[in-house]
Amino acid sequence: MKKEGKEFKVTPYEVSGKVNYEKLIREFGVEKLDDKLLERIKKHTKELHLFLRRKVFFSHRDLNWLLDEQEKGNKFFLYTGRASSTGSKVHLGHLIPWIMCKWLQDKFNAEMWFQFPDEEKFLYKPEVTLKDTEKATHEDMLDVIALGFNPKKTNFLIDTKHAGLMYKEACRVAKKITFSTVKASFGFNDSTNIGSIFYTAMQAVPAFLPSVLKGKNIPCLIPLGIDQDPHFRISRDIMPKLGYYKPAILHSVFLPSLSGMGGKMSASKEYSIFTTDTEKQVEEKIKKYAFSGGQPTVQEHRKKGGNPDVDVSYQYLKMFFEPDDKKLQKIHDDYKSGKLLTSELKEILIEKINKFLKEHQKKRELAREQVDKFIFKD
Ligand code: TRP
Repeated sequence: MKKEGKEFKVTPYEVSGKVNYEKLIREFGVEKLDDKLLERIKKHTKELHLFLRRKVFFSHRDLNWLLDEQEKGNKFFLYTGRASSTGSKVHLGHLIPWIMCKWLQDKFNAEMWFQFPDEEKFLYKPEVTLKDTEKATHEDMLDVIALGFNPKKTNFLIDTKHAGLMYKEACRVAKKITFSTVKASFGFNDSTNIGSIFYTAMQAVPAFLPSVLKGKNIPCLIPLGIDQDPHFRISRDIMPKLGYYKPAILHSVFLPSLSGMGGKMSASKEYSIFTTDTEKQVEEKIKKYAFSGGQPTVQEHRKKGGNPDVDVSYQYLKMFFEPDDKKLQKIHDDYKSGKLLTSELKEILIEKINKFLKEHQKKRELAREQVDKFIFKD
């Protein structure tokens, strides 16, 4: 995709360049999450999560339909997932759809299905072993549990463990999707291994598995980073052919990498904040790498002011860490006027992230005892 001479790419297997979300909405054929729809959500939830208010979730598929069903008493369930592998630790960007799910679970008293496709990274990445992904999956479950999901209403599906339950359904999906469709959507070619080609069928299954298990059609809502949309663009089309609803989808933007160079926070770079980072690591990374919209010298900054729109620290506050709209506005204005320096802005962010991570890490440790309660027993 080209825009102003700059290219960007968004697929489940690569996100690069400076993403133009308006263009992505058109290319992917999704709908913008507009104020009217936000108001409709608010009727149910009474308030709007920061991720909705600030358009961190910016587009959707079939959300109006989902709310129609909800209003008729046909309650939906939530579904999202995480493909673990070593060398790909959970970072702040990963948490965005998961926090959204937890909030929606509370607001709608919805059941949550969380998939851990422990074969996905094994299939795509030559160096990853199944033993690696097994260990990483366990660690990543702790991050999910730490966010506070209700164990009575949350089910973890692990592809290799729940294969007996999922495989039949995956075959039903796979039979209806051609190689040429998958090839075009994911950029595969004739040398791509056949496991990778099949995988999208496994990711489709949890979107209707609860309907299979309960013997009736249940609407599904999938909050996800927009890079995952292609899996569902393909599988949504064929779900009615299998007798199920198409899942509704809510897409989030990517939390930018600290470098501000576009693309998303990446699991393998120093430009990311991981959930297991120490206070010191967070401080060092923000100070060293967080791209600044400030001026080169203090004098110049006082005179000309900074640019919050390109400043990564400000973006993190806006997208994640400062829920108070008034406080955020003041930070914005003070930075723009030059009253607030980059070093001061960074201090605000460092403190917020460390406060969040301290709590998260405590809950993450407690989660070690709870994993079993979350794994689906079939
Ligand atoms: N493919 C996703 C990843 O690479 C994991 C995943 C599985 C997922 N099921 C999902 C993501 C449903 C979003 C929604 O991490």
